[in-house]
Amino acid sequence: MSGLANQVVAIVGGSSGIGRESALLFATQGTQTLLIARGRERLRESVDEIRANGGKAQEFPADITSPDEVIQLANQIRSQFGRVDVLIYGAAEFYLSPVEMMDCGLAKHAMEVNYWGAVNVTQAFLSLIRNGERKTIVFISSLSVPCTPPFLQHTLQLNTLFAGLLYLCGKN
Ligand SMILES: NC(=O)c1ccc[n+]([C@@H]2O[C@H](COP(=O)([O-])OP(=O)(O)OC[C@H]3O[C@@H](n4cnc5c(N)ncnc54)[C@H](OP(=O)(O)O)[C@@H]3O)[C@@H](O)[C@H]2O)c1
Repeated sequence: MSGLANQVVAIVGGSSGIGRESALLFATQGTQTLLIARGRERLRESVDEIRANGGKAQEFPADITSPDEVIQLANQIRSQFGRVDVLIYGAAEFYLSPVEMMDCGLAKHAMEVNYWGAVNVTQAFLSLIRNGERKTIVFISSLSVPCTPPFLQHTLQLNTLFAGLLYLCGKN
């Protein structure tokens, strides 16, 4: 990772797991690191850790399954930064089950976060990404469970979102 100083990097799911580790790593390169998740306490802990190490970070609490909250979030980031150079989507609910035992409520919730959340954020952030220098979106998912719904379902669906973005790239 080089040339990232002062790039605006927004990390959805930045308070835990891969998102959090990405945030810590990006911040070491001098990025403006924006951490997005629901839980304020874990967000604050991650932001405090980045700042204690000399990095720049800010927390943005939001539930990305709510389109209204995501639009508000994008507006807030627009008014403060005007652009997003790199968007990382690492929000996830992990739910795996053999079909015959699957709890459909939990499976649908996983789809809400893992797929529809990605759609909400992509839609609301596209104009910010277009204003950015790197115009980069990273979706974090998993290939490790090829025969287990709903995991397979949202992984495949993310590919359709990705294909839609490639089509847009060709047009613009
Ligand atoms: N960890 C691994 O070893 C591993 C390996 C391969 C692939 N993956 C994939 O990588 C992705 C991330 O996994 P992870 O282990 O890093 O996940 P994680 O530690 O559970 O982190 C999930 C993040 O998403 C946020 N989040 C969940 N629901 C949200 C919502 N409705 N609105 C906003 N934020 C929300 C969580 O914060 P709040 O709950 O506070 O909102 C948290 O920051 C997943 O797709 C996973 O399958 C992980």
